[in-house]
Amino acid sequence: MKVVLAYSGGLDTSVAVRWIKEKYQAEVITYTADLGQDINLQEVKDKAIKTGAVKAYVEDAREEFLQEYVFPALKAGALYQGKYPLATALGRPLIAKKLVEVAKKEKAEAVAHGCTGKGNDQVRFELTFMALSPELKVIAPAREWEFLSREEEIEYAKRNNIPVEISKKTPYSIDRNLWGISIECGELEDPWKEPPEDAYQITSSPEKAPASPQYIEVEFEKGIPVSIDNKRISPTELIDYLNIQGARYGIGRIDMVEDRLVGIKSREIYEAPAAVILHSVREALESLILDRESRNFKNLISSKYAELIYYGWWFSTLRKALDAFVEKLSTNLTGKAKIKLSPGQVNVVGRTSPYSLYNMNLATYSEEDIFEHSAAKGFITLWGLPLKVESKIRKP
Ligand code: ARG
Repeated sequence: MKVVLAYSGGLDTSVAVRWIKEKYQAEVITYTADLGQDINLQEVKDKAIKTGAVKAYVEDAREEFLQEYVFPALKAGALYQGKYPLATALGRPLIAKKLVEVAKKEKAEAVAHGCTGKGNDQVRFELTFMALSPELKVIAPAREWEFLSREEEIEYAKRNNIPVEISKKTPYSIDRNLWGISIECGELEDPWKEPPEDAYQITSSPEKAPASPQYIEVEFEKGIPVSIDNKRISPTELIDYLNIQGARYGIGRIDMVEDRLVGIKSREIYEAPAAVILHSVREALESLILDRESRNFKNLISSKYAELIYYGWWFSTLRKALDAFVEKLSTNLTGKAKIKLSPGQVNVVGRTSPYSLYNMNLATYSEEDIFEHSAAKGFITLWGLPLKVESKIRKP
């Protein structure tokens, strides 16, 4: 039997290579994508082979990740429970889709992932398999193996000559890509405790941020960021740049208690400077470009869209239908915002667009005012009519 395993190069998935081989008498093929997690693909490939894989696929999927997964989510305004920009949740369907492709190519019968039974990621992987290739068998070693503790797992690794990098050991479980970093476990499990500084991987603390602010102009075209300070750059460069600048100011730290799919509440922290900055730019442009009712309706869509991502329903008809709606509203989402980075926060301090609905002559209180003041009287008479009728019968 051949099994295609989602391989990160870390301890769990390295142990998984060996464990699947033994337990299922299988040939293990690994797949690893660079989604911007600071990884050396050649090293990962070598490690996979050394650990016992018969073949190791590695691929730079950063551009695809941004274009096909992150940008649609950004356009849709997707923030789970109003806060989490969904970095981890968006990476899983991409990786799972790639596993399916490799499995087809290699004529493998099964796919495998290293997720535990307590998290959301197992659901996202497996729902993608079910949507794209339901006949594939799924193996989830971390849900099946007999190790009772981390120590036992490390023992197994040592017995099997799997390199264990003690130097990189941290008390946290960390998942990283271009769109953000998810950090859990260790002291973070106590929701009352402030996250220790060492939990944060890229952001400096706001107390240590530069005191003087930095201004950046970010331009969007049809709902997607395309240039910084009037220079067009690639999506990867753009996100990298905003992550670096935002991180210097301690922007994009998110500390929340979230509701997992499996019914658990968990305390998570995230670092997502670029995501937080870009969502504020998108929101600023929408405020200028969309009419009131479209804006309000879109907010309903945003939270549903975020749930679909979080729940593993990326490859669903509903998600595609919502994409069509968002696409329509994004046709005119072209324009620029001027943002100001200061310690711990990003503020939009200016916005402009060729499609702006903002009309200075209507808004102004100066003598250029063209608003029809007398029309307000009739408007109020009818708008409040139901309240007036009711109040004659009963007081609310
Ligand atoms: N709670 C987040 C989510 O469900 C982050 C999960 C982090 N995953 C991990 N393997 N550390 O999307």
